[in-house]
Amino acid sequence: MRAVLVLGLGGLLLAGTVRADQPAMGDPVAGKKIAGQCRTCHGIDGYAKIPIAPHIGGEPASYIRDQLTAFRNGTRTHEMMSVVAKSLTDQQISDVASWYAYPVAMATLTADPSGAPEACTACHGIDGIALIEQAPNLAGETNIYIDTQLKAFRLGKRTHEVMSAVAADMTDAEIRAVADWYGSVKLEITVPD
Ligand code: HEC
Ligand code: HEC
Repeated sequence: MRAVLVLGLGGLLLAGTVRADQPAMGDPVAGKKIAGQCRTCHGIDGYAKIPIAPHIGGEPASYIRDQLTAFRNGTRTHEMMSVVAKSLTDQQISDVASWYAYPVAMATLTADPSGAPEACTACHGIDGIALIEQAPNLAGETNIYIDTQLKAFRLGKRTHEVMSAVAADMTDAEIRAVADWYGSVKLEITVPD
């Protein structure tokens, strides 16, 4: 488990909330079967197969569940994921989230750590392995994916109280630089026996 840092950010980071209508615990064995629907894009272990899809293996189950719920609700939209999420029940979302949370994500820097973007490392880590439960890993995501998400936050197409504020003032060049930093990290995802 990753450590949850308590940051002095004026209470912006709220503890992950489990809503009453969502089963808190998923079944990873049932989730692995559902992941058959995801594997062409995200891989069965969560290491993405296509450049526009993120690596999701080893992310916290709560993050995966919240994003799938957001795609299903329409608060986050994407032509592929909105369709995928529509067909999933709350239980299936919890199950598939607990499957993809099961692998372990490991990052290796390929550049000097002093080049890490200071504005991001408190939450996403120097190597893109997140330091707080609510933030996703960025390690080894394609720069296209990171770029797309930051521009979506900047435009208000995707919203989050912290990330919308972070992205609001970033220029295209700054976005490209941080995308290249995290994209340059080598990511390995392993499924424990
Ligand atoms: C046809 C390809 C495709 C399939 C199939 C697919 N996904 Fe995705 N998924 C994507 C793409 C592309 C994105 C990036 C969306 C965006 O840009 O906002 C994504 C994003 C996500 C995210 C958000 C991750 C993050 O870091 O924010 C999650 C979680 C996710 N998918 C889970 C799943 C699960 C679980 C399944 C199977 C039930 C699935 N996806 C099936 C292509 C796919
Ligand atoms: C205070 C903590 C914090 C800081 C600082 C921060 N982030 Fe985030 N970031 C988050 C959280 C939390 C999320 C999840 C947002 C959501 O739930 O939609 C996130 C999501 C993202 C995503 C979407 C990833 C995905 O898998 O879809 C990207 C890209 C991102 N952050 C990049 C950055 C970059 C680049 C910086 C620095 C310029 C940065 N963040 C700074 C907390 C932070």
